[in-house]
Amino acid sequence: MAKITKEKLIELLNKDLGLEYTACVQYTQHQGVLNGAMYQSIQKELVIHAQEELAHATILASQIDYLGGVPTVKMPVPKISANNEEMLEQDLEGENDAINRYIARIKQAEELNLYHLAHQLRNILAVEQEHAMDLEQALGK
Ligand SMILES: [Fe+2]
Ligand SMILES: [Fe+2]
Repeated sequence: MAKITKEKLIELLNKDLGLEYTACVQYTQHQGVLNGAMYQSIQKELVIHAQEELAHATILASQIDYLGGVPTVKMPVPKISANNEEMLEQDLEGENDAINRYIARIKQAEELNLYHLAHQLRNILAVEQEHAMDLEQALGK
């Protein structure tokens, strides 16, 4: 595997940042659309998830600026559905993708001896794993 550079890491962190914006908007939309007594407790969780994704975006924007990059304002389009279960599946897919990306990103940050960044990414990763657990539980997985 090619050695990571600071420039490449900034580029990857900007992709992560865009996907945090997407997750925040997607959760905000999903919590509004999700309905039914069965989904009441996960609906409340989604409100919290939206706020936590925004907090992640804030951390990543600061870290990218610190590394000498320009934090992006671009984001991939969120996924929507009229079906409760499908919405939660879309959210879980996003979380699993985030988990894989942050596991890789922590290793890359450590490779560059950026331990403060690695520490911040570990905290974000732990929250994403919690998000995935909430969704798996709601989906009966
Ligand atoms: Fe996040
Ligand atoms: Fe998340």
